[in-house]
Amino acid sequence: MEQKAPSITDAFKGFSQLTIEQRLDKLSEFGGLTNEDLQFLRRGGLKDTKLGEKFIENVVGYFQMPLGVATNFRIDGVERFIPMAVEETSIIAAASKTAKWILETGEITTEVVGQNIIGQIQFAKIQNVEKFRDLILSHKTQWIEMANREVASGLVNRGGGVEDLTVRILDRGDGYFMGVVHVMMNPCDAMGANIINQVCEYLKEPMEMITGEKVTMCILSNLVDSKITKACIELRNVDSELAEKIEEASFFAQIDPYRAATNNKGVLNGIDPIVVATGNDWRAVEAGIHAYASRDGQYRSITRWKRDGNSLVGLFEAPLIVGIVGGVTTLHPMASLSLRLLNVHSANDLSRVMAAVGLAQNLGALKALTTVGIIEGHMKLHVKNLAIGAGAQEKEMPLLQKKLEEILALKKRISLSQAIESLKEIRRHQAAVAEPVNNKS
Ligand code: MEV
Repeated sequence: MEQKAPSITDAFKGFSQLTIEQRLDKLSEFGGLTNEDLQFLRRGGLKDTKLGEKFIENVVGYFQMPLGVATNFRIDGVERFIPMAVEETSIIAAASKTAKWILETGEITTEVVGQNIIGQIQFAKIQNVEKFRDLILSHKTQWIEMANREVASGLVNRGGGVEDLTVRILDRGDGYFMGVVHVMMNPCDAMGANIINQVCEYLKEPMEMITGEKVTMCILSNLVDSKITKACIELRNVDSELAEKIEEASFFAQIDPYRAATNNKGVLNGIDPIVVATGNDWRAVEAGIHAYASRDGQYRSITRWKRDGNSLVGLFEAPLIVGIVGGVTTLHPMASLSLRLLNVHSANDLSRVMAAVGLAQNLGALKALTTVGIIEGHMKLHVKNLAIGAGAQEKEMPLLQKKLEEILALKKRISLSQAIESLKEIRRHQAAVAEPVNNKS
């Protein structure tokens, strides 16, 4: 009988228990990493600062962040390894654990709605508002063609480019009006920041000439409400008490900005590490998400969870503007390695993975917060760090970790001073046991 190939998820059971070497072997066995990737990682990654100097000024070295892989994710029916560059303990463990729960009893689906990013051209004080609007709109086809021919032809060849120009008039509150032209551009698989800034600057002169108004500045907007990534997680047969608590926790984040900020930080715990690992601009992503979260005038949660019969359904909706070509995504070896691991073939696919992981991370946090609390999980993973911090040697680690886990179970918290004290106690005990043997010899 033909043997069914194990799914990636089955094959990656126990991934967290493996050594780094074994994890690398497993990833390459399943096509996540090439031989060159393995050699690069085994050599310790990026060391030569020459590359750093291509990105920024006054380079003196690299700041190294651990890169881990979250497992158990099946997004839109596709199993994926999720590379995450992050310093915070428990994020990757929580993501993998929550993804396993979803895998067993539900699914994750995602989509991107809209395709255009936004560039802004500001006319600080308009002399004649109606004339300004009419002139911009009556010349827009001509300007779109010019911009696509002179600046964005590469994008046009790939099916993108400038698609529209719109006019916004803002009341300044001082008796004058401000004109803002929005340049709407499809950046294809790039994040598009450089090219849209170039387009805006290119259009400045013809717009000033035709309208007789003065441009003050041009720059992209990070509030890209014209291109939204959505994720949906549906979990079936959820314990009704748990589902209700998660719904209530989510409602809390909908109506209270203090809670919304922390909720969204938890969502970003899932998103930012992928943004960083793939060499994307996390400040842009953060700015866009927070602005979108405030779109009705109050800062709110970018996720919401609701019960639907026995099911629990979660939704994420926000701009997630990232790229898979250009800039750091292409030049940084860790970024291209992460993109290979993810196996995404478009910028939209990448943003969909980010939305899915962000929503799953939020679910994991809400589940922990409404049941055992967040400390327990954090602390369990922290035990090893504390043992190392206390100065335990390799052979002392198992005993000390066991002791610390007992303290944690009993007191629900644990500190470095307790770890140091426990280590001293273990050493005293071992010395006492060894004493009679030494005396005999
Ligand atoms: C901690 O990094 C993230 C949480 O605070 C998120 C949340 O409160 O939803 C646990």
